[in-house]
Amino acid sequence: MIPPAAGGVAPPGSGTSSGAAGVAAVIPPGADPLIPRPEAPRGPGFEEYDTVLVVDFGAQYAQLIARRVREAHVYSEIVPHTMSAEEMLSRRPKGIILSGGPKSVHVEGAPHADPAIYDSGVPVLGICYGAQLVALQLGGEVARTGKGEYGRTPLTVVAGSPLLASMPSQQDVWMSHFDAIVGAPEGFVVTASSPDAPVAALENVERGIYGVQFHPEVAHTPRGQDVLKAFLYDACSCRPNWTMSSVIESSVDAIRRQVGSEKVICALSGGVDSSVAAALVHKAIGDQLTCVFVDTGLMRAGEADQVEETFRRQFKMDLVHVKAADRFQELLNDVIDPERKRKIIGETFIRIFEEVATEHEDARFLVQGTLYPDIIESGTKDASKIKSHHNVGGLPEDMNFELVEPLRNLFKDEVRVVGEELGLPEDIVWRQPFPGPGLAVRIVGTITPERVRILQAADAIVVDEIRRAGLYNEIWQSFAVLPAVRTVGVMGDERTYAYPIIIRAVTSDDAMTADWARLPYEVLERLSSRIINEVPGVNRVALDITSKPPGTIEWE
Ligand code: XMP
Repeated sequence: MIPPAAGGVAPPGSGTSSGAAGVAAVIPPGADPLIPRPEAPRGPGFEEYDTVLVVDFGAQYAQLIARRVREAHVYSEIVPHTMSAEEMLSRRPKGIILSGGPKSVHVEGAPHADPAIYDSGVPVLGICYGAQLVALQLGGEVARTGKGEYGRTPLTVVAGSPLLASMPSQQDVWMSHFDAIVGAPEGFVVTASSPDAPVAALENVERGIYGVQFHPEVAHTPRGQDVLKAFLYDACSCRPNWTMSSVIESSVDAIRRQVGSEKVICALSGGVDSSVAAALVHKAIGDQLTCVFVDTGLMRAGEADQVEETFRRQFKMDLVHVKAADRFQELLNDVIDPERKRKIIGETFIRIFEEVATEHEDARFLVQGTLYPDIIESGTKDASKIKSHHNVGGLPEDMNFELVEPLRNLFKDEVRVVGEELGLPEDIVWRQPFPGPGLAVRIVGTITPERVRILQAADAIVVDEIRRAGLYNEIWQSFAVLPAVRTVGVMGDERTYAYPIIIRAVTSDDAMTADWARLPYEVLERLSSRIINEVPGVNRVALDITSKPPGTIEWE
């Protein structure tokens, strides 16, 4: 079994979104800033969905809440706590959820919600910190009792409540709080309590205002999703129409409206995001779309064939396949420094894309596989970065394209469902993240055609065995690394002097932190024997057991 990555509370099937890798999967890193994207967070075509706003008070829970709401088939958007009530209401939400947060409501500068939301008539649900804000801002009392509750905590339902209707009178829920609500505001009913939270749930049904000290969004709260559903369906009267098939329909309409009869171009990498974006745009506008697949020669084994098979043969797309392995190899000869490798690959990719774009000068739009987490996080990320890919580059501004970003409202798990519904092969839809510079950052030291061949062959075995063991979807990334040393071995009666291969397999939620995957011994044994027997030039297999931090996922 593979243990979960350190930290964070992950819902089932979660943890598939990675901001940096997400954007870069479409366009490898280059030097220049991204083409500016339109400001509005919501793409066109989304008016038909009832919307619930999740106000972010700075905990890791806001994204989780938003995803849980969407799992209940209601569209949700995350907004900053600094947003005014007026601006929130201009989005015509059917409900507002105040998330948890790391601060105490009592510290100076603790974030508050604009109190006007409580009188807006839009139902409000406060969760954890959000519940304390509801209490505090409406005249109740929150105290530093000195007795916080963390983890599984027994909850007693003490009064009939539409919100808690699905809950038994006694059960464990997930708590994570230091302060506690000790007095409900006037007009509120206390509906649940726990040993150290006398007011663990409160509500004023008439005003449509609710608060729960526990976390209904985490899997460790057994009926948590029912609590959210009660808020969404009963308190907010939301229609559960956020399904990926309806999203496909509305996106298709929106793309058609946006591009009309103009030509569109798309950089296709074979990764999940660009593949789903391309398939969606193709569904909308057919052969108005041209996809450009740049084969750098640094892709995984069989990847170029798979892109050809899927997009040209299955989807009948207009696909420009640029076979540029020699060009990249020539520029990378003797380059050892990882950052130079990235820069060369990013810039060469851009040059090639520009060349193709010039041949398609009638294209006015560019498809980009930007995901919702990229939008949420853009501008708020820490500026000091470890590798240049985290400052994701893109195409130069002077290319003058308007962006088509059909996935900008979706989380990664939603993107995968869209991909499946569009008929993309499972291999693409469930593909692990792959760095834009490809195998170049997994070949430590010089890149030669021979070393690329060795790594591709070893990597294919890793993927194959991990799949056979049924671990592929459970592991964030699993791959082979080729270091710049050779070691002595003996095969038959012969001395060998050949390369080792290092197996790297990690679990993670978002690539920001990772743990090394505890692969079963039998899988490691098969990997070792197959790689040495089947890949000429390799005589040793080692396992990387470094977490991130201190290591990074890639070796370069
Ligand atoms: P590290 O190695 O920094 O990687 O732990 C975190 C995630 O980013 C991917 N990665 C890249 N993606 N261009 C990309 O598009 C790059 O240059 C790059 N370098 C690393 C890596 O595979 C992991 O998912």
